[in-house]
Amino acid sequence: MAEPITEPVLEVDGLVKHYPLTRGVLFRKQVGAVRAVDGVDFALGRGETLGIVGESGCGKSTVARMLVNLERPTAGSIRYRGEDITRLSGRALKAVRRNIQMVFQDPYTSLNPRMTVGDIVGEPYDIHPEAAPRGDRRRRVQELLEVVGLNPEHVNRYPHQFSGGQRQRIGIARGLALRPEVIVADEPVSALDVSVQAQVVNLMDRLQSEFDLAYVFIAHDLSVVRHISDRVGVMYLGRIVETGTDTEIYDHPTHPYTQALLSAVPVPDPRAREHRERIILSGDVPSPTDVPSGCRFRTRCWKARERCAVEDPALAVPEEFRAAGGPAAHASACHFAATAPTGRSAPGRAVPLEGHGGGPG
Ligand SMILES: Nc1ncnc2c1ncn2[C@@H]1O[C@H](COP(=O)(O)OP(=O)(O)O)[C@@H](O)[C@H]1O
Ligand code: SF4
Ligand SMILES: [Mg+2]
Repeated sequence: MAEPITEPVLEVDGLVKHYPLTRGVLFRKQVGAVRAVDGVDFALGRGETLGIVGESGCGKSTVARMLVNLERPTAGSIRYRGEDITRLSGRALKAVRRNIQMVFQDPYTSLNPRMTVGDIVGEPYDIHPEAAPRGDRRRRVQELLEVVGLNPEHVNRYPHQFSGGQRQRIGIARGLALRPEVIVADEPVSALDVSVQAQVVNLMDRLQSEFDLAYVFIAHDLSVVRHISDRVGVMYLGRIVETGTDTEIYDHPTHPYTQALLSAVPVPDPRAREHRERIILSGDVPSPTDVPSGCRFRTRCWKARERCAVEDPALAVPEEFRAAGGPAAHASACHFAATAPTGRSAPGRAVPLEGHGGGPG
């Protein structure tokens, strides 16, 4: 996978999360597994933003929960500054957790309605009292509110007194309280109105340089992460299927899935729009309990051939692009990676994917 430009703060290798599927009430027997995350690798550099994009259910939140240690992986490692945090416990774990904080998707449900904004933003100090002396907390909380563009005098108000965008600012202030080095933002703007989304993304952009933060920024829509990401990883059914810099992914995608996602993203320039073929994916995303053999995208891929059913393509730079260099030379998990979305049968005339309006849902 494309390496970060700066020294890595997070290195994820072979990350797997399988949830057991059981049957029977008295004698529970495992009959299968939900392969929510099925072998994910990436690195995140200091001060960098990695965008992770994919349709609903592809495993993005499960990755996020493992990164902040809310869940333990079935296999694989997550190293923070070289140390595998999945093997830590007690004090050592607590110390590491301080540096990796999460911002949640839904500002309506992730804030306790009975707590004041001051208590919500200052809550991390209850868990890490060493981060702020007791007498200094109120001042710090007010400073944080100001930093995210809220009125510090509103410290005693309750979440319902704020708009959706303001509530997400509260969530971000809480994420900043311990001065982390990494913030994992799980669809931080998906629940917000389009007009407010850009404001929150811009705020996160500004905070990144101010606080020297590295972001894992998760979204289900490629257009949301473009502005803020240095690199992007595209997820499908528990795996990253293509990864590269923003230019490599948005202007030179080589994986059919990325090409399909991009063809659904609105293009502002009408001339560019005319020249682009809209790819409509047929069929539904397979269940993660029953992942297709070989390439997991083959049941919806217009380029699939026999080889795709038997051989699982590795996420690697395709040989012909590696030799030629240039922006197509980035990792893509496809046996027939190509810069143009052409194949044996032309795309765009398949059965429309339900609910595929303007991006994956
Ligand atoms: N605790 C769990 N038990 C069983 N299955 C789960 C659990 N959490 C998530 N899943 C399943 O794992 C898959 C990935 O879920 P998730 O990570 O939430 O995807 P995303 O965030 O990309 O929408 C989904 O099929 C989901 O139903
Ligand atoms: S490996 Fe085959 S099925 Fe998978 S994306 Fe490439 S062409 Fe499509
Ligand atoms: Mg999710």
